[in-house]
Amino acid sequence: MSSNRPAAVVVLAAGEGTRMKSKTPKVLHEICGRSLVGHVVSAARELDPEDLVVVVGHASEQVKEHLAEQFAGTRTAFQAEQNGTGHAVRMALEELGRTPEGTVVVVCGDTPLLSGETLSALAATHTADGNAVTVLTAQVPDSTGYGRIVRDGVTGAVTAIVEHKDATDDQRAILEINSGVFAFDGQLLADALGKVRTDNSQGEEYLTDVLGILREAGHRVGASVAGDHREILGINNRIQLSEARKLLNERLLERAMLAGVTVVDPASVFVDVTVTFERDSVVHPGTQLLGTTHLAEGAEVGPNSRLKDTAVGAGARVDNTVADSAVVGASASVGPYAYLRPGTNLGFKAKAGTYVEMKNSTIGEGTKVPHLSYVGDATIGEYTNIGAASVFVNYDGEAKHHTTIGSHCKTGSDNMFVAPVTVGDGAYTAAGSVITKDVPAGSLAVARGQQRNIEGWVARKRPGSAAAQAAHAATEAVAEEN
Ligand code: UD1
Ligand code: CA
Repeated sequence: MSSNRPAAVVVLAAGEGTRMKSKTPKVLHEICGRSLVGHVVSAARELDPEDLVVVVGHASEQVKEHLAEQFAGTRTAFQAEQNGTGHAVRMALEELGRTPEGTVVVVCGDTPLLSGETLSALAATHTADGNAVTVLTAQVPDSTGYGRIVRDGVTGAVTAIVEHKDATDDQRAILEINSGVFAFDGQLLADALGKVRTDNSQGEEYLTDVLGILREAGHRVGASVAGDHREILGINNRIQLSEARKLLNERLLERAMLAGVTVVDPASVFVDVTVTFERDSVVHPGTQLLGTTHLAEGAEVGPNSRLKDTAVGAGARVDNTVADSAVVGASASVGPYAYLRPGTNLGFKAKAGTYVEMKNSTIGEGTKVPHLSYVGDATIGEYTNIGAASVFVNYDGEAKHHTTIGSHCKTGSDNMFVAPVTVGDGAYTAAGSVITKDVPAGSLAVARGQQRNIEGWVARKRPGSAAAQAAHAATEAVAEEN
């Protein structure tokens, strides 16, 4: 591996990507939770190059900021005007301030499906064959727009790459295309770039011309054909963006399934590259798993759930739920129809049931919040049951306050816990209570108006009504029985 370690990888990302019709520069569009250029930089990092340079130009500040945030330490080179891919590589070498000794890999920032494996295979072939340049090519069903690989009719050796706009009709019929990925000998690349001209239909310095220049100087030019042409899909518009998203998603789910995850319907499940699974986890249809979401062994999620940066413990069940930055303990149960917001931490075997919203709250082992409740800014102990339709009243209009409820409590239905307030261990609260004062351990708190029955009110105030007739009949029946 170390012998194939490239001296440098250059990622070309200075173009605007006009065909995206977007305010956002093309390389910052995302698929599966990572920007296009981010996917390429990740693959490039797998080669462990001595230097990694991303060429930026259009919206360079935005792209640089993004790289600094997501891939700290990545070097950038500035290409003020987009004078072509050859010019872009020249800017990268200038930024390095030296001619790299060894292999220089060049890759475009808009080919997010390219794997580190393919890149290192290309570098290995390049070294093994002792080439001056090795280009990654692919056979595609439709080569429109791509540079065509022109080969010698007799020997089959690559003689040139001709851009679509500069190609003759015969050349346009060629289905073998340039992926835009190259391995070069650093010294020969630097020399040849100095000889690249701009006498083409776009008036640009084409990197692809380096190939013909090196060949004419008598150097070895090689080509490596990609096994799967879909891997080199370049994104130029939003249709290709969605195609790439679909392909990458399939790849991620296949990897998960081969590692022991059941994905019931891969077509309706969407995952980010940073999602991780343990074996025997199950993903039901209509589910999105985003960011750093993790499913532990035997965890089951979905259908119809969206989990972002959420950890689901072993054997937990999450059904029809939206969660963001939450921790669901082992064997816990969530949903159907729950909303777990940041800072929710459900313990072992805890429950957040139907139509329950939680935020910034720690729910102890075995504690249940089964129905129609809001729990915000709270700590609840173990094996407590919160009655249906309870609200943790955490906001006084200015500040948020905390509620603490102990272990083994039974709070009644339709309670309001007006924070800050504490309910001690083993305490009970009556249904319909508005709890504004602390409840000592083991007490029953009743905080509601006394019930008063005004007898005969309906007969007096609503005479002749259906209610009055029903009440009359009921009274007669009781009288007869006696
Ligand atoms: C390029 C190749 C073509 C290949 C295709 C594969 C050349 C001349 N053409 O064409 O043979 O089949 O990729 O997808 O190399 N860029 C810069 N600075 C520039 C110009 C481009 O950084 O001055 C960057 C772009 O941001 C992009 C990449 O280089 O990431 C490729 O540029 P693009 O304009 O998309 O080239 P294609 O026409 O697709
Ligand atoms: Ca392109």
